[in-house]
Amino acid sequence: MNARPDAASLPIRLADYRAPAWRVEHVELDFELGIDATEVAAKLLLRRDPAQDEPLRLDGENLELLSIALDGQPLPTTAYRTIDGGLEVDGARDGSVLETRVRVQPAANTALEGLYLSGPRETGFLLTQCEAQGFRRITYFPDRPDVQSGYTVTLRADRARFPVLLAGGNPDGAGELEGGRHWARFVDPHPKPSYLFALVAGRLEKIERDYRTADGRDVQLKIWAEADAIERCHYAMDALERSMRWDEQAYGRNYDLAVFHVVATHDFNMGAMENKGLNIFNAKCLLADADTSTDDEYRRVEAVVAHEYFHNWSGNRVTCRDWFQLSLKEGFTVFREQSFSADMNSAPLKRIEDVALLRRAQFPEDAGPLAHPVRPAEYHEINNFYTATVYEKGAELVRMLAGKLGAAGFRRGTDLYFSSNDGRSATIEDFLAALGEANGVDLAPYLAWYGQAGTPHIKAHGDYDATRREYALTLAQHTPPSAQQPHKQPVPIPVKLALFGTDGHMLPLHLDGQTANGGTELVVVLDHAEQRFLFRDVAERPVPSLLRGYSAPVILECDYAPAELALLLAHDPDGFNRWEAGQQLALRACDALRDGSDPQAVTAWCDALAALFDDAQLDAALLADLLTPPGEIELAEREAVVDPARIHALRQQLQQRLAARLGAERLDARFRRLAAQTTAALDAASQAGRRLKQRVLQLLALLDPALACDHAAVQYRDAPNMTDRLGALAVLARHGATRSVEPLAHYRARYADDPLALDKWFALQAQLPGEGALARVQALEADPAFTLKNPNRARALLGSYASGNPTGFHRADGAGYRYYARHLLALDALNPQIAARLATVFNGWQRLEPQRRDAARDALAGLAAQDRLSRNLAEIVGNMLRG
Ligand code: TRP
Ligand code: ZN
Repeated sequence: MNARPDAASLPIRLADYRAPAWRVEHVELDFELGIDATEVAAKLLLRRDPAQDEPLRLDGENLELLSIALDGQPLPTTAYRTIDGGLEVDGARDGSVLETRVRVQPAANTALEGLYLSGPRETGFLLTQCEAQGFRRITYFPDRPDVQSGYTVTLRADRARFPVLLAGGNPDGAGELEGGRHWARFVDPHPKPSYLFALVAGRLEKIERDYRTADGRDVQLKIWAEADAIERCHYAMDALERSMRWDEQAYGRNYDLAVFHVVATHDFNMGAMENKGLNIFNAKCLLADADTSTDDEYRRVEAVVAHEYFHNWSGNRVTCRDWFQLSLKEGFTVFREQSFSADMNSAPLKRIEDVALLRRAQFPEDAGPLAHPVRPAEYHEINNFYTATVYEKGAELVRMLAGKLGAAGFRRGTDLYFSSNDGRSATIEDFLAALGEANGVDLAPYLAWYGQAGTPHIKAHGDYDATRREYALTLAQHTPPSAQQPHKQPVPIPVKLALFGTDGHMLPLHLDGQTANGGTELVVVLDHAEQRFLFRDVAERPVPSLLRGYSAPVILECDYAPAELALLLAHDPDGFNRWEAGQQLALRACDALRDGSDPQAVTAWCDALAALFDDAQLDAALLADLLTPPGEIELAEREAVVDPARIHALRQQLQQRLAARLGAERLDARFRRLAAQTTAALDAASQAGRRLKQRVLQLLALLDPALACDHAAVQYRDAPNMTDRLGALAVLARHGATRSVEPLAHYRARYADDPLALDKWFALQAQLPGEGALARVQALEADPAFTLKNPNRARALLGSYASGNPTGFHRADGAGYRYYARHLLALDALNPQIAARLATVFNGWQRLEPQRRDAARDALAGLAAQDRLSRNLAEIVGNMLRG
């Protein structure tokens, strides 16, 4: 365990970057695999940078060194020494070969970083996780992404216990050994950084498919899982094939090995990992079938399969120079996945989903004590920087660049980026340079986005001059200060816009200085603190539709009247902005309920939705989203002082008003019609129908809980898929109290042996709001299936409680915080990455009302006072208290 960051442990800084003094041209790894002990022999061909005079230093953690030799000679103990987190070796020259032999303990590894055991020791399998710095827990190595090496990997193990042996790269022989053991060798022809190394060994089943790339390479696709899960991998296989085709067409990227392995594990810290040729997935993001997966989960599997596959180019062939550049691969790859998912499903719905996530997860991060730029300037623990800012805001930045260059220009840019950086460890500057150079534009101004934390706020104000028929749109930007950056620069903000007439049609646009083409949509770029855009020949006072498609990750404040938002909600053909108008109107309505301002806002919102409710043209899924006001986290973001109970009550009241406006009869009739169409089909229309059905049932429950529970009980009993089953169970648990006892027990028994389905059972109950939540969570903790050792299970109970249950977690008496902090501490001793991740739910604590704020501070301070915190948790808690 590492000491906590204090004055003595300095952060790693981007500004201190130095090219490596020593590289490894080639590495040969030999594993003698065992559950309790695995021996790793490594042979490193070293290259020295003649311009640097640094001793050879290798990273290494939790390694038991068994032997070490340089250029064939065993080293005396005086010729090497362990230094903080590594090994220093004397006497190495350019071209030297260093051989080490170490022992590691997979079964004792609860951090799930390095080599570890998934599942029970009798039946589980071994696997690795190396990003970001797990390779140093496998062998001594310069464990940094700008050291790229060829890999030859030999695995040896007992055949009966480990029938399947896999490593990244192409297979290069296999055979029998004495004593029931066997071996397999893999050679990776593409040099790679150590974080992309992977191996898997154990009892696994597979499904296979042959694939021929656009450039004519035959590839064997193999998805591996434990026997009970292998039949749930077919959907992922289809998604993989779709991803590969899409990347060929959209980016001209082909796969580059003879085999592509994908493996599912239930023990994983995050969603999935793009190891070269051997992707490893959290089972939650790979397995899918109708009986256990919701529609949302199907879409998530498709998205994560695509994300990891796309990394083969954006991340693997072109990797990151250092971990500060993480968004170079993550932001870009999230953007690529978003574009893919938009093509595979409904583009506006995907956009709505992504923006909702950005607002729920990234905006609060960017506005709180954990705020950091998309390219951070410093860190203590890199694993704490796999954040919504690096991923989701990073993707928004790429989207802005793509928008600026246009489809063809962006493709020219990415072609140049991939070709000029292939095999290299690149930077954000390299990315912007390639995109710019291919198009003859200077994208350097966009670099400001990467270096500055905080969400820009835009204020928009329109003035219409009827006599001159001119409309002046004034846009001003301001980014609030954050912990390390008191003063912010203006950034270039592309604002895609249209102007609407009162009849709901878009007006032709004539803008000074831009091609006055008379089209109805254009993009203006706000790159100063304030700018005025003058539209001529505007026939009437227009209603502006701004940031269409969400053209920049900013918070827009525009002085709309409720009726103007209602007009956009009724007419805007931009699906995203239509939804957005509804969200803005709902926010107005919420404010009105809170302080009596703008009383028409509530009726305007309800009336607008009532008018759309039976609109046969409207997509059912979009309607479901329109009927959903912004969530409690989003509402809290707008408050100077946050009382989670009050926000919950306010949002309930708002939904109550909507339900009342629609009326129980109409809701009931709509539910019955949708229920009659129920199928298990996965097509977009069927999914949309289920989404709307669930939303309608929730609204009905607010008016007539008994009737809604009657429907839910039938739906639970007859459900042909998990979406309907879980949806019904949620309504029963939320509104039926005693009526949910039997179905909850039924579900528990039905899925007793299915970890992913059981996680949903824990999560659903942990999210039930109100006073009883903490007691319920404590009771669930006593369930024999609960364990802190499994990240999915810990997240399902503790994570759902703290981030999915604002009233239950934010108890005024602070008992929720104390309970949670105790568990973070226990978790930290097992798995620091997960403890640190779960600790981020305290973000925003400073703005809580005084009683809760003090209780949250005490809980955090109690954690900070512990002297055995991991570096991971210490950094999060420290930043939280400092901010
Ligand atoms: N690079 C992975 C991705 O595709 C995420 C990742 C980073 C990860 N570190 C990890 C996954 C540790 C599992 C465990 O986004
Ligand atoms: Zn990724």
